[in-house]
Amino acid sequence: MKSLPLSRVYQLLEPGPVVLLATASKGRANVMTMSWHMMVDFEPPLVACVVSDNNYSFAALKVVKQCVIAIPALELASKVVRIGNCSGRDVQKFQKFGLRALRGSLVAAPLIADCFANLECKVIDTHLVSRFNLFVLEVIKAWIDPGQRAVKTIHHHGHGRFVVDGRAITLRSRMP
Ligand SMILES: Cc1cc2nc3c(=O)[nH]c(=O)nc-3n(C[C@H](O)[C@H](O)[C@H](O)COP(=O)(O)O)c2cc1C
Repeated sequence: MKSLPLSRVYQLLEPGPVVLLATASKGRANVMTMSWHMMVDFEPPLVACVVSDNNYSFAALKVVKQCVIAIPALELASKVVRIGNCSGRDVQKFQKFGLRALRGSLVAAPLIADCFANLECKVIDTHLVSRFNLFVLEVIKAWIDPGQRAVKTIHHHGHGRFVVDGRAITLRSRMP
């Protein structure tokens, strides 16, 4: 075994898929790329995510307490990286990246029609926001695009490296 710098641990555990986090604040929609998220509970689905307080999205999430997690397929990968390398402070990302916004049913943040799944979420816990920028979200409505089948998601390994969803296998267990 060889020692691995602690700064590289996230590259091993970061699960992906890389998602887009859409918010809306004061009538303005924004979107950022996010890969630091994890499931917390099955139903209602709870998701924990880390949104840096350097990001423009942070205040919208903290104040409005709503967002959409949109899951892009491989075809959107280069756009997803570019969305994660600029800020809503400086650009209107929906326009700049030609993202098609759809009205959600329960939250003000837009769905992203280009993505194969969209999850409308509300923030249900902010205890760890001041310490870790960690929000716990509840998914309150989920949408799937039936037109996008057999999609491949992308998973971040850090430093611009991604792994594309591979071969699916089924192993029966008690997990749903
Ligand atoms: C692949 C990738 C994954 C990212 N994951 C996260 C993340 O999990 N949390 C986070 O705060 N920023 C993450 N970022 C960085 C934000 O997307 C980036 O800072 C973005 O510019 C913020 O946009 P905003 O200022 O409009 O909110 C990621 C960027 C990339 C390219």
